[in-house]
Amino acid sequence: MNKPTFYVTTPIYYVNDVPHIGHAYTTVACDIISRYKRLSGYDVFFLTGTDEHGQKIEQAAQQKGMTPKELADSVVQRYKNLWEKLNISNNHFIRTTDESHKKTVQEVFKRMQENGDIYLDEYEGWYCTPCETYWTETQLLDGNCCPSCRRETTKLKEPSYFFNMSKYQEKLLKHIEENPDFIKPASRRNEIIAFIKEGLRNLSVSRVSFKWGIPVPGDEKHVIYVWIDALTNYISALNYFEANSELKKYWPADFHVVGKDILRFHTVYWPTMLMSLGIDLPKSIFAHGWWTVEGQKMSKSLGNAIDPNWLIEKFGVDPIRYFLMREVPFGLDGDFSFKALIHRINSDLANDLGNLLNRTLGMVKRYFNGDIPAYKVEDTVDVELFKKIEDTFDNVELHLKDLAFNKALIAIWELVSALNKYIDTTAPWALAKDKENRDRLETVLYTSMDGIRALSLLIYPFMPDTAIKIREQLNITEPVEKNSFEELKRVKQLKAGGKIGEVTPIFPRLDENEIIDNIKSENKKDEDKNNNDKAVELIDFAHFMTVQIKAGKIIEAEKVEKSEKLLKLKVDLGQETRQIIAGIAKSYLPGDLVGKTVAVVANLKPAKLMGLMSEGMVLAAAIGHKHRVLELPDEVAPGTIIK
Ligand code: MSP
Repeated sequence: MNKPTFYVTTPIYYVNDVPHIGHAYTTVACDIISRYKRLSGYDVFFLTGTDEHGQKIEQAAQQKGMTPKELADSVVQRYKNLWEKLNISNNHFIRTTDESHKKTVQEVFKRMQENGDIYLDEYEGWYCTPCETYWTETQLLDGNCCPSCRRETTKLKEPSYFFNMSKYQEKLLKHIEENPDFIKPASRRNEIIAFIKEGLRNLSVSRVSFKWGIPVPGDEKHVIYVWIDALTNYISALNYFEANSELKKYWPADFHVVGKDILRFHTVYWPTMLMSLGIDLPKSIFAHGWWTVEGQKMSKSLGNAIDPNWLIEKFGVDPIRYFLMREVPFGLDGDFSFKALIHRINSDLANDLGNLLNRTLGMVKRYFNGDIPAYKVEDTVDVELFKKIEDTFDNVELHLKDLAFNKALIAIWELVSALNKYIDTTAPWALAKDKENRDRLETVLYTSMDGIRALSLLIYPFMPDTAIKIREQLNITEPVEKNSFEELKRVKQLKAGGKIGEVTPIFPRLDENEIIDNIKSENKKDEDKNNNDKAVELIDFAHFMTVQIKAGKIIEAEKVEKSEKLLKLKVDLGQETRQIIAGIAKSYLPGDLVGKTVAVVANLKPAKLMGLMSEGMVLAAAIGHKHRVLELPDEVAPGTIIK
């Protein structure tokens, strides 16, 4: 019998940055749903990969003195290594530099052109020459300045191919309205409907201002717009246009899982492209929320992006997978904190699940010399527990249909509690005191072990290594994957008679204070090392001149609420006054700073710190934990350039 198919995709990741916890989040989520579907009898295709073309990558490579392909190759390896460490079970890893992908993208472009949906015109935008980037009017800062380097931009035109996207506006709206599962969660769906109703504009789908991309077939001055290139990965990975493609059976995708920031590309550009190509639309596009770290947006410049490799080394892969999925409802934003992580590990994993396994197997060892007991004398508590196990499978199935990972885990942990309670009520230690109760004692321990066997299946998608370890301790050798959901949820499947495996704790308890102190001192060492490393890296004069440093007079200063480190400053820069959030509250009282003229980096990209916009940086020397700002003599007027 042919198994039903299931196709799930992650976004393909840009290679101008190394993987962080946000990327790991999407990929782990897709891995969980893939493993769950395989477990319950599906033929799954799980796709991930990298997005390697475009101006951003070209520029990042240039800055590093590498070719774009060299940069891509090195970052791709980091992604692949991380996915291996995270136990990601993808069936394929696509790169947009793969020859077969490039061929498919050109075929897509050609077919859309043949269908009369692509035409040549002119693209008009605001161009920043130093950044070699076009900006739209809404992206510009005051005075038509570049949002990246703050220099003035010029209005420029270049030839460009356009996709007649507006043609599909009504058809797309109708599809979204008739298919409530097409965009999830519902709040995001409403957002997209409102956006489409404002009116779709035609889309510029080629560029002549840079080279790093897939050439437009027949007009090689143009490269194909990176989103047309990237979105096509979902079908190029299936060799969609090849006559004998066996992978085509997986289309349409069951889920494209994406972050909320790229939902529009997936729910407007992608479906209208597919409409133009005459290809079925994906069944569902799910937008998850974003992670902050200890309350702050993760970013390269703040240096707070958490490296998942480091996390895995410190805490183990399964606790990280568990935490990411348990802590925050999929679809909402969440905050990563070490305190919360350690709390989850200690309470849910070490206490609830770990103890359940230990106490149960400990008793099997003690009372039956490690022989797996049999189900002999039934009581209503056992029947109720088996019912609870079956219900848990049903609930998990229901929640995972909606990618409600946290609800699925809550349901599973209710079963963990029910099993712990079952042991408390049946009190095997009391039964063991009387030989008369031997059969009942066996039944109780069999039921507990069978419950743990069911748990091993339920947690397998989330924590595959742990599930296998538990099964080894229970001495279950049969494969986890089943032929159907009905088979998966069947109870009393544990075979009596054999010997249990070696009993070892699966999750040791963590000491919160010790770990947090440890992390702090590691961070400090890293900071010092980074500072030293930077000192030896030579830059040329032109590079230095890209940093604009100005004299600024501090005219107001106050503490940022709920922050020990931050001060909110108002700084006079001559022509303008800026708000700067500075991490110097441990070194200065606000009053000490007012009136000082300091050195300010004036062309730093604005960033939000604790919800407050910071438009520059005050330069300071770091002496251990203390800071001393660079003070300038009073005669230096605010706005004076420092070179
Ligand atoms: N290359 C495009 C996607 C093309 S798909 C055809 C892209 N790449 S990305 O590397 O910038 O982002 C990939 C995914 O990581 C996005 O879904 C994004 O939402 C997610 N995340 C990036 N930072 C994140 C957090 N801080 N938290 C959660 N997810 C985040 O966009």
